[in-house]
Amino acid sequence: MRKKIVVGNWKMNNNFQEAEELISTIADDLDEKEIVCEVVICPPSLYLEMASDYAEESVLFIAAQNVSSFDNGAYTGEISASMLSEMEISYCIVGHSERRKYFNETDSQLAEKVNRLLDNNIKPIFCIGEQLDERENGFQFDVVRNQMQKGLFHLNSDEFLNITVAYEPVWAIGTGVVATPNQAQEMHSYIRGLISEKYNDSTAEETTILYGGSCNSDNASILFSNKDVDGGLIGGASLKADEFVKIVMSC
Ligand code: PGA
Repeated sequence: MRKKIVVGNWKMNNNFQEAEELISTIADDLDEKEIVCEVVICPPSLYLEMASDYAEESVLFIAAQNVSSFDNGAYTGEISASMLSEMEISYCIVGHSERRKYFNETDSQLAEKVNRLLDNNIKPIFCIGEQLDERENGFQFDVVRNQMQKGLFHLNSDEFLNITVAYEPVWAIGTGVVATPNQAQEMHSYIRGLISEKYNDSTAEETTILYGGSCNSDNASILFSNKDVDGGLIGGASLKADEFVKIVMSC
């Protein structure tokens, strides 16, 4: 049976003390509850070590927000997958729309990042999603298919089993405009169909596909109740412990 996952992407927010308070409150709250999904926190890189110390004694898993597409070497400012793996990092976000947009990350770089992570036993959370004008012009399925093909479909089916896909329509990220449950389900089922076509039905059935984009405690349960929506990638709402815990409990 495929895993349900709720991921909190803190982006570039919180000072060290705030980050420590947030993760310890989330860990304490969740430790008292019965949860049916995996819970993953993505703090900024400088806090990964602190966060993985907390995670060790809790139900939480830790993810990085980014990784270098290179192995090691003279790449100033970069952090390699092997460095992340030394910190007991379980997952890493790849291809978030903010990285595609502000850092010009290309599909081929993203495919390399996926490779580096898999070489180091870290599971990629691979983000895909269309811009508003692409949806308005009816290209959303083409965009998503292209992103899946270029970023992921070089993998063989065993490798692909380590992938979590996050469908994040760019127009919903940080905007307060959330995809309707029907829009989410329609795209998630399309993505699962692509995986089945490329690999096979069982790989498609095993793949966790998350929804992201203005997901909060008011809309999470209806989004997550769709049969192909296996949890969420949460930005803004993951910065408040009580809000994030409510979203986890909706899964
Ligand atoms: P948001 O961000 O929940 O603030 O819309 C989601 C994301 O960027 O992953």
